Amino acid sequence: MVGWVLLPRLLVFLLLTKTFGQAQRMNQDALLMQYIERRIMLLEDRLEKCNQDMNKYVREFRDFRKEITVRLGGLNIYKTEFKNEVDILGSRIERIEKDIDYLEAQQPTQTCVEVDDKLIEEQIQQAEEKRKAKLRMASDCDLLLAGIKSLKIVKKAGDAQGSWIKDPARDFQKIYFLSGTSGNVLTEFGGIKSFTERAGGQVAKKVVLPFAWQGTGHVAYNGFLYFHRNGTLNQIIKFDIRNGTVKDRMLLQGAGHVPVYQLSPYTFIDMAVDEQGLWAIHAEPDDGGGTIVVTKIDHGSLAVEHTWDTSCSSKGAEAAFMICGTLYVVYNTHHGSRSHVQCLYDVTDIVTSTDFPVLYFPKRYGKHSMIHYNPREHQLYAWDDGYQTIYKLITKKKLESQPAFQ
Ligand SMILES: *[C@@H]1O[C@H](CO)[C@@H](O)[C@H](O)[C@H]1NC(C)=O
Ligand SMILES: *[C@@H]1O[C@H](CO)[C@@H](O)[C@H](O)[C@H]1NC(C)=O
Repeated sequence: MVGWVLLPRLLVFLLLTKTFGQAQRMNQDALLMQYIERRIMLLEDRLEKCNQDMNKYVREFRDFRKEITVRLGGLNIYKTEFKNEVDILGSRIERIEKDIDYLEAQQPTQTCVEVDDKLIEEQIQQAEEKRKAKLRMASDCDLLLAGIKSLKIVKKAGDAQGSWIKDPARDFQKIYFLSGTSGNVLTEFGGIKSFTERAGGQVAKKVVLPFAWQGTGHVAYNGFLYFHRNGTLNQIIKFDIRNGTVKDRMLLQGAGHVPVYQLSPYTFIDMAVDEQGLWAIHAEPDDGGGTIVVTKIDHGSLAVEHTWDTSCSSKGAEAAFMICGTLYVVYNTHHGSRSHVQCLYDVTDIVTSTDFPVLYFPKRYGKHSMIHYNPREHQLYAWDDGYQTIYKLITKKKLESQPAFQ
C-alpha cells in the first residue's frame, strides 16, 4: 500500500535527483571552465608582462652598448695619446744617450787619448825599427776613415755571434760563412747573390775544417783561411780552402791570455786584412782589462814582422778593424747601444787619436761580434746580433783634410 502511494513520488524524486545531479555536474564543469579560463588569462597577462620586460631589457641593453662604444672610442684616443708620449720618451732617451756618448768622448782621461810613459819609452827604443816598418807601410797606402756612410743589412742567418768574410785577393766574390763562436764547418757561397737567395743554402758548399775555431776573428786571404784554433792558447792555423789541407801553423806569442775585446769575450785573436796584408789583433792583460796589441804577420811564411802596443783599451770594446795600417777600435755598451770608433792607432804615426773625432755607426741597437775591412771593396763586413751587414765608408787621405772619395 505504501508502494502504491510512494512509487510515483519515488519516481519523481529519482527523476528529479537525476536531473539535479546532471545540473550540478554541468555547473561544476562550468566552474572548471571558468577556472581554467582565468588561469589562462592570468598566464597571458604574465606573458604579456614578460614580453614588456624583455623589450625593456633589450632597449636598456642597446643603450648600454651605445654607451660602451662611445667610451671605447674615448679609450682609443687615450691609447694614441699614451703611445705618442712613449715615443716622445723614447726619442728623449736616445738624445740623452747621445749626450752621454758625447760627454764620454769629451773626457780627456779616456784611455785612447792618454799615452803612458812606458809606451813612450818603448817607442823611443823601437824608433829605428819602427821607422823601417813605417817606410814600408806608408809607401802605398794613406786612406784615413772619415765616416761611416751607410748600413746595408744583407741577411739574417746563423747564431747571434759569428763571422762572414770575403777574400780580397783570390776568389774575391765568394762568401765564407762561419756561424757561432766555435765550430768546424765553414759554408762557402759562390757570391753575394747565392748568399742572399732563399735557396742559397742548397748551392752552398760545406767545408769541414780539421780543427775547430775559437772566436769570430777568422780571415780569408789569398785562398787561405787563417783562424785561432779552438782549445789552444794562441795557435793560428793557415788552411787551404780549395783543397782542404792545413798549409801551416804558428804560435802568436803573448796572445790568448785575455779576450781582445771586453764585450766580445769569445775572441782572443782577431785576424785582419788590409791593403798591407795580414794582421793579428790581440790584447795584453793590464789593470783595466787589457790593452790592444797589433801584430803584422807575413802571410806567406807566417813570420811575425812587427808588434805594436797601442794605447787603445779592450774595455768597452766590441770589435776592431785595420785600414791602411791603422787600427780602428769600435766601442759599445754592455746592453748594446750605438757603436762608435773612439780609438785609433796608426802604425805609421801619421795620425793619432787626439786629432781623430769619434765616429758613430748608423743608428742600430745591437752588438757586433766582428767587423772586418775589405781592402778591395773599401767597406766593412760585420755580424750584428745575427744580421750580416755591410758598412760603406767615407775616407780621406791621411795627410789631407778633404775626403778622398765618398
Ligand atoms: C772548443 O773547445 C772547448 C774546450 O776547450 C770545447 O768544450 C768545445 O766543444 C770545442 N768546440 C768545438 C766545436 O769543438
Ligand atoms: C793543396 O794545394 C797546395 C798548393 O796550393 C799543395 O802544395 C798541396 O800539396 C795540396 N794538397 C793536397 C792534399 O792536394
